[in-house]
Amino acid sequence: MKVKIANNAGFCFGVKRAMNMAWHELEERENGIYALGPLIHNKQAVSKYEDRGLKTVNELNDIPSNESVIIRSHGVGEDIYIQSKNKGINVIDTTCPFVKKIHSIAKEYSAKGYKIIVIGDKDHPEVIGINGWCNEDAIIIKTLDEIDQLNLDANEKYCLVSQTTINLDLYNSIVEKLSERLNDIVFKNTICSATKERQFSAKELSKEVDCMIVIGGKHSSNTQKLVNICRGIVPTFAVETKDELDINELKKFNIIGVTAGASTPDWIITEVINFIESI
Ligand code: F3S
Repeated sequence: MKVKIANNAGFCFGVKRAMNMAWHELEERENGIYALGPLIHNKQAVSKYEDRGLKTVNELNDIPSNESVIIRSHGVGEDIYIQSKNKGINVIDTTCPFVKKIHSIAKEYSAKGYKIIVIGDKDHPEVIGINGWCNEDAIIIKTLDEIDQLNLDANEKYCLVSQTTINLDLYNSIVEKLSERLNDIVFKNTICSATKERQFSAKELSKEVDCMIVIGGKHSSNTQKLVNICRGIVPTFAVETKDELDINELKKFNIIGVTAGASTPDWIITEVINFIESI
């Protein structure tokens, strides 16, 4: 039995950076640190960090003064920084630099009188964060058709940004439609290529192997997307850890491909690979 690993699998640059920063901070402190929202969508990783002293809360109000809070890679709105400062809470900012860039665009253009349009999911923490840098006043759209329902003013100034994980085809089609409707609009392509690269690697590897194993949280949407891509090509098993692997099923295949969602830590991927190689 041979194992092949996708070229791009597991943590992206921004998540790896954030997780390393959080771990480093936890090692420095005796009393632990708070995280505003789950650090990552991976049960095993969160519980490893909680054992080291991470305390997850949903509201800044749940954090006492003089404590420290980790801002996740998704980022947050400007008000969280202001409120933290006012409450004497120390901010450990692990926001991905690519997301930070969107925050500065939203702030800069909103200050110059542009109306910000965001392509993304209005309930996603990244989009909520972006909206928090332009007075919570952004127009948020998820599909091309939604443009028809918008009350746009052709004489106003607009600036378009996107959630980092959206599809480039969707972005391009929205740019085309808005260019026809508006006279003064600035387009900022803020898509991050990490998601696309991971999907491309999974697809390419699926063509070379007899089955795929996709490692990632059951509730992780990017992991599910990888599962769907692989399943369209070869038999695919979705697991959170090595314990969910079925040895008898795997023995039916000669070459096994492995990939992992963006929130799957390296140590879980390594455990799966070691387990398959030991069969
Ligand atoms: Fe950052 Fe891209 Fe990952 S925006 S958090 S590197 S998907």
